[in-house]
Amino acid sequence: MQDTTLQDNWKRLAGEAAARLIEDDMVLGLGSGSTASYVVRTLGLRIQEGLRIVGAVPTSNATEQLARELSIPLTTLDAHPELDLVIDGADEIDPRLCLIKGGGGALLREKIVASAARRFVVVGDVTKQVPLLGTHFPLPIEIVPFALPLVRKRLEALGASVQVRHKEDQVFVTDNGNMILDCSFQGGIREPGELQTQLKRIVGVVETGLFLNMAERAIIGGPEGVKEVMGYGMNGGGFHAAQM
Ligand code: A5P
Repeated sequence: MQDTTLQDNWKRLAGEAAARLIEDDMVLGLGSGSTASYVVRTLGLRIQEGLRIVGAVPTSNATEQLARELSIPLTTLDAHPELDLVIDGADEIDPRLCLIKGGGGALLREKIVASAARRFVVVGDVTKQVPLLGTHFPLPIEIVPFALPLVRKRLEALGASVQVRHKEDQVFVTDNGNMILDCSFQGGIREPGELQTQLKRIVGVVETGLFLNMAERAIIGGPEGVKEVMGYGMNGGGFHAAQM
């Protein structure tokens, strides 16, 4: 069992380091979850100190509320369909920087915002790094509630063990009025690209928490401080990790 205070400190270190990537005149996307909230808080401080961003698109109602409290200027995808930089957390990060997201239930808006990004940076702590996706965290899938019986059957046929997400004894409802199914795959997800294609073929699936080949780099907090892991295509097409 991980000490949560320690883990929270690693999240804070990563969030603060990631927020240093933000420059004047940028249009941003702001992620959701506890690590992303450290990015938002640090951005709020930097704005107080004189940083001037054009605006930020929040990925959830919770992030929007936090950004408003911190007087961070907000914008929309309508006004800015291309974002300079999006920083968001993750539930699992594999060595190729493929991700599982959606632990907080915001995966659909998170993926829409990430897909609008010129640069997408993932922040997390060392506990999020896994050799294979799906080994520590089930894959969240957002579905249309009406389609539940059908989608559940199709997912089980793909080998998933399916749990309808609940919060405080109620079925969890996303910011978009949908449901989340948390899907475990025995032995992890060996072919995430193939699985994503199969899942998106199921009528009623809105989006999955697989974020494949989207992150340009990961900023990871841990016992040794903060390290940066570059994705494929960065710095000559390989991976390298550097202490920050
Ligand atoms: C929200 O839907 C998620 O994708 C979060 O980014 C993810 O669950 C990471 O959350 P924490 O930073 O709180 O661990």
